[in-house]
Amino acid sequence: MTEVILAVKDLRKSFGGHNAVNGISYEIVRGEIFGLLGPNGAGKTTTIAMMTGLFKPTSGNVSFTMNGQRWNSSDVKPRLGLVPQEMALYPTLSAWDNLLFFGRIYGLRGRKLRERVKIVLEMVGLADRAKEPIDSYSGGMKRRINIAAGLLHEPDVLFLDEPTVGVDPQSRNAIFENIQTLNSTGLTIIYTTHYMEEAQRLCDRIAIIDRGRVIALDTPGNLINSLGGGLIRLGLHNGLGKTVAHNGRAHPEVRDITIMDDCLIVETHNPQKALIGMLDIINQMDVRVTSLEVMEPNLEAVFLQLTGKSLRDN
Ligand SMILES: Nc1ncnc2c1ncn2[C@@H]1O[C@H](COP(=O)(O)OP(=O)(O)O)[C@@H](O)[C@H]1O
Ligand SMILES: [Mg+2]
Repeated sequence: MTEVILAVKDLRKSFGGHNAVNGISYEIVRGEIFGLLGPNGAGKTTTIAMMTGLFKPTSGNVSFTMNGQRWNSSDVKPRLGLVPQEMALYPTLSAWDNLLFFGRIYGLRGRKLRERVKIVLEMVGLADRAKEPIDSYSGGMKRRINIAAGLLHEPDVLFLDEPTVGVDPQSRNAIFENIQTLNSTGLTIIYTTHYMEEAQRLCDRIAIIDRGRVIALDTPGNLINSLGGGLIRLGLHNGLGKTVAHNGRAHPEVRDITIMDDCLIVETHNPQKALIGMLDIINQMDVRVTSLEVMEPNLEAVFLQLTGKSLRDN
């Protein structure tokens, strides 16, 4: 049975007239890994800040419900774990002492505190390095200590904001494993990233965010299937995009063509054949190609189809 744990309704946040978050709504199901995927500046961190109560929304609201009980506003904070994008650890203190410090902020004391520190260090696989100063840790290990800090008070929902940025591949895999293990114990996880491979691999459902709005929301499989195949992005030189698109749409291997600025986004079941067809048309019309990209059916292609932009360009 699916149970909605978190509902976000028409959330907005503006900073001095700029709408960083511009009407976001979704419901998160208990026990899922829910991804917010979008380029830098899309509004992911601002959305998370409002969901965790760090920022007051300009308008809209966030509500949490579990076992049919709506959480009071005073209940919310202690039941959420936040692993922020910017890390805040004391470099000269050991991981152990850092976690003791964070645990006290959450109101843990004495034996219970020490027990929790031990447990979370084991969860992130760094128990054996606990007494070393944070200074001596790699970027990835610091991230894992940050994740451990977010888990000290046994939250019901964990928010991870771009936890793999600046992390070596080995630590990145360790972080993925940590997240999957935590999720398998029932923890609901909200995960932001601008890396589509991560969202595709980790998340049960993904909200694709661009310019403060959700532009698509579904399972990775359904998002990719919505493309119905691959994409070709063709940059053209001399303003004949409309005619090329018109002729291209008549080609049997082309499903549809969208014109975005000076690019054509060609949707197709068969990129190879569609490409040959498009190049034929372009040749006959004496149009110059300025760029060409053939894309596998993946989230990058979904984003491109929806926005005309590449996630990677950002
Ligand atoms: N405290 C702030 N003051 C002013 N503008 C902000 C602030 N925080 C974020 N922004 C702006 O809001 C937009 C969304 O930012 P952010 O939520 O950090 O995006 P993301 O996390 O997806 O990279 C950006 O244009 C950013 O410059
Ligand atoms: Mg961010």
